[in-house]
Amino acid sequence: MSRSPQLSAPPSTDRQELIRWFRESRARSRKLFELVKPEAYYDRPISLRNPVVFYEGHLPAFSYNTLIRKGLRGPSLDENLEVLFARGIDPDDEAEANSRQASLWPSREETQAYGKLVDSRVEEALRTGDIEREGDPLRERANTAYTILEHEDMHHETMLYMWHMLPLEKKVAPTEATIPPPSPGPLAHRTVRVPAGRATLGASADAVFGWDNEYPEHIVEVPGFEIDVYSVTNADFQQFVAAGGYERRELWRDEDWRWREQTGLQHPNFWAEREGQWFWRGMFAEVALPQDWPVYVSHAEASAYARWKNRRLMTEAEFHRAAFGTPEGIERPFPWGNDPPDNSRGNFGFQHWEPLPVGSCPAGASAWGIHDLFGNGWEWTSSLFGPFEGFSAMASYPQYSADFFDNQHFVMKGGSPATSLSLLRRSFRNWFRPNYPYVYAKFRCVN
Ligand code: AVJ
Ligand code: FE
Repeated sequence: MSRSPQLSAPPSTDRQELIRWFRESRARSRKLFELVKPEAYYDRPISLRNPVVFYEGHLPAFSYNTLIRKGLRGPSLDENLEVLFARGIDPDDEAEANSRQASLWPSREETQAYGKLVDSRVEEALRTGDIEREGDPLRERANTAYTILEHEDMHHETMLYMWHMLPLEKKVAPTEATIPPPSPGPLAHRTVRVPAGRATLGASADAVFGWDNEYPEHIVEVPGFEIDVYSVTNADFQQFVAAGGYERRELWRDEDWRWREQTGLQHPNFWAEREGQWFWRGMFAEVALPQDWPVYVSHAEASAYARWKNRRLMTEAEFHRAAFGTPEGIERPFPWGNDPPDNSRGNFGFQHWEPLPVGSCPAGASAWGIHDLFGNGWEWTSSLFGPFEGFSAMASYPQYSADFFDNQHFVMKGGSPATSLSLLRRSFRNWFRPNYPYVYAKFRCVN
């Protein structure tokens, strides 16, 4: 390709890098599907979500539909599978989920063959296709390519938290899957004051890629607040349970209480109680409840705990101040500064199947000395997921965010052990319903 930098910005996408990323992500997807025993292929580990087979088809179907059919106006490869697997959206309720018969889904062989075919077409498009073109929102800065790559990475986390809920006997534990021993020694909880200041939310218009909900970039004035240096741990949360927190109506928001009553929830979903002893339901084993791991809970439980303490969850803007702000007033791209993420900075990027004791990665602490803001579990905020002012839906996936601007979802920030490095950026926003207890999400309190 000839390039003339004087005329206009030339296509600058590094295709080799996109192909490398694609291969690495596809290899990870294959590894994740191998963790599920064949007999569980049509199981729904979370009853509200689609079965395992759906995800093995959804990833290639989404990539083909987005990069090739939509972006390049290419022909269909397999019309039926492209429709069946297109809907990343889960059934609305269990009745709908149950009504989707197992017979609806293709065999594992057929699903994997489709995936293989798509892989070769996607690689070809990344190598030589007309995927980058100015003036076309689908192809500006290779938008559909980044969309499919980040989509695949995002679903690695979906799969892992789903697999987490599968009975242990339905999973194949990799030989290296050990649970790190909990560290001894009591933890000294502390708070730190983050003074009033500005926070930049959102992604800059010249970012290489961002999802639509990350735009536009804007500045928010944030009043000062006191924030926990460490996440709330299992030990802390046990006190809430022991104090009858799950029975105390006044601690829960109305809709949260309704859910608590309907489900009879008495403790975090990641815990189990047997003969008066608490256990952690790990990915491949159950262990005595590690006292100093962050507690993974739903937003509903997190906010009830905070109310019990006469405190609250941080807002999205407070997260930005706590994670990226500095006493000097400049803002940084990562809690620890400017360097790209690596293993020393936090528990993310598939290093571990479980959380680490809070404060295990001091090299990842923010300028205020606040730990684990990226990694070790997403951070719940009190902010409803909504569009930033000036939002416009992305061409490659217009429903990605817009379908969830319903004031029924809360923003989560940061990342978990199962969050890909590619998604660790300041502007990335995640969201779930307050009564969704399956995700790797932790919290801390502020006031
Ligand atoms: C951004 C993680 C909330 O899993 O529902 C994947 C990501 N959207 N395919 C989800 C998503 C469509 C989404 N989250
Ligand atoms: Fe999806």
